[in-house]
Amino acid sequence: MNTKQPVRIIRIFENPESLAENFCNELKELVNTSESTLNCAVSGGSTPQVIYKLLAEKYSRQINWNTIKYFWADERCVNADDSESNYGSFKKNLLDKVIIPPENVHRIKGEMNPLFEAERYSEEILSFVPAISGIPAFDVILLGIGEDGHTASIFPGDEQILISQKICEPTVNPTSGQKRITLTIKVLNNARKIFFIVTGSSKSKIVSKILATSKDERIPASLITPVRGGLFFYLDKQAASGIRKVSA
Ligand code: 6PG
Repeated sequence: MNTKQPVRIIRIFENPESLAENFCNELKELVNTSESTLNCAVSGGSTPQVIYKLLAEKYSRQINWNTIKYFWADERCVNADDSESNYGSFKKNLLDKVIIPPENVHRIKGEMNPLFEAERYSEEILSFVPAISGIPAFDVILLGIGEDGHTASIFPGDEQILISQKICEPTVNPTSGQKRITLTIKVLNNARKIFFIVTGSSKSKIVSKILATSKDERIPASLITPVRGGLFFYLDKQAASGIRKVSA
């Protein structure tokens, strides 16, 4: 396991809207300057919806959508049209509003048997995402952080997933009992750029905990330490309000 702390870039924004604006610009630059397809894995939850909506409203003509392949960092085991579906909310806020080639969209089939779908999706990733050191290496991964320190669908207390050598694993949200499928830490940490997108005062405690400590198995998000890539914390002021001010 990677022991050194990665370089963590922390950017604090006035509000979720300016965070989204900056992220969309960063994505635009990445895509439009890339010589090859960008393999991106996105998360669910409510935070990234602001980004997806802004991409659709303001960046639909500024981004060459043909050069992005979309994958998911995790998915709820529900139908695609279920309000809980990460793919479903991405589709509603972005896919239905911009022209992204269907072959560039690789959703996790939440409606399938989780064990079989985790295997199937691992194969799909292997056939599209180039590997570095034998592990698929995404170019961009967008992650959120739960108040309990989970990220993707890697929840505290699930020891098995922390040591998994697989690409995807079925998991369960311990609070709701909802079945999930998630990329493993091994794959997440092999990405080129990992963005934590975190907003709201309810996240200030967990954010300051993660930034103040090194890796802690009780806080899965703290285990996201890219092997060679960049780790970016995009925070609004509320989520950053608990960060101990480092004296100048
Ligand atoms: C999911 C996400 C999950 C999410 C966090 C934060 O499927 O729910 O992948 O990891 O990013 O729970 O969620 P919010 O953005 O809703 O706070």
